[in-house]
Amino acid sequence: MAWTTADIPDQSRRVAVVTGANGGLGFEVARELARKGGHVVMAARDQSKAEAARASIRGEIPDAALELQPLDLASLASVREAATSILAHHPRIDVLVNNAGLMGIPERRTEDGFEMQLAVNHLGHFALTAELMPALLESNDARVVSVTSTGRHAGSALDPANPHLTGRYDPWRAYGQSKLANVQFALELDRRFRAAGAPAKSIVVHPGFTNTDLQARSVRETGGGRSQRFFRAAVQRFGMTPAQGALTLLRAATDPDAVGGALYTPRWVNWGPPVRRPMFRGVRNPEAMATLWQVSERETGITFDLKPPA
Ligand SMILES: NC(=O)c1ccc[n+]([C@@H]2O[C@H](COP(=O)([O-])OP(=O)(O)OC[C@H]3O[C@@H](n4cnc5c(N)ncnc54)[C@H](OP(=O)(O)O)[C@@H]3O)[C@@H](O)[C@H]2O)c1
Repeated sequence: MAWTTADIPDQSRRVAVVTGANGGLGFEVARELARKGGHVVMAARDQSKAEAARASIRGEIPDAALELQPLDLASLASVREAATSILAHHPRIDVLVNNAGLMGIPERRTEDGFEMQLAVNHLGHFALTAELMPALLESNDARVVSVTSTGRHAGSALDPANPHLTGRYDPWRAYGQSKLANVQFALELDRRFRAAGAPAKSIVVHPGFTNTDLQARSVRETGGGRSQRFFRAAVQRFGMTPAQGALTLLRAATDPDAVGGALYTPRWVNWGPPVRRPMFRGVRNPEAMATLWQVSERETGITFDLKPPA
């Protein structure tokens, strides 16, 4: 039987933080968690879009427990501020969905000097997860969901000497690097949860080929880049709906049987219901994961404290 939103267990008394909840896959995740009674912190950059997203969910689910939290993952200061505010209201967090992302955009630097796709897709989420760790460790079934892409297969592991691809930038190289980082981060975080004896799972998902703003934004930002236009046209024609694409994220966030350190994708890689998939053996390279962790700590200046509460 295919896993559907009908399989999401009751989420009342569970608190979820969803990044990029003002559109695309994040919006769908926020809505379905709220439908099942979850309290959802919609962590988003564009606040007018976030207001509209909340109003749209409330139009359908009037008693949805939704909270807006400004968050710009391209700014470590914003990540810190958002985490402080979330922790002040929520001593326990059960679900963190690190969903927000950018794809295939021209070279840009953040205020912290980071390459933009690495910053938003990986480093910002690395910092957010570390900051929210005390609250995640208070849950007896915490989930951290990372969102990768088939783009990871084109990515190389971070080069500690040049993680921001200075002089080597290519929009797809940067996307691939950041999406491979999402996988390595998720696997290493799960290993660290196990080592600390924490009742938490870190799970990585690939949502599949889904018609959201991701491809459209890459066309806008590149002023009509060729490969970007190709993916935009293809996803409009062949992509899944955002509701279908969000199922992998929702399964990782809520299925009691979801496995920590595993990968969930659509059954036919880019299409279909969410299933657990094997990973290429090379991905679980302990050396590469350790390097990713060290570089991420060095760049963000943030370290993880994984001791569960006594
Ligand atoms: N759609 C697909 O086919 C596909 C396939 C594989 C993987 N994915 C992954 O799925 C995730 C969600 O993408 P999507 O398809 O839902 O795309 P989307 O519709 O473009 O949504 C992306 C979200 O990321 C947010 N975001 C971008 N920059 C941000 C920043 N600096 N700070 C905070 N939020 C920021 C956007 O918010 P604003 O509008 O406020 O900037 C938006 O909410 C991404 O990680 C993507 O790599 C998608």
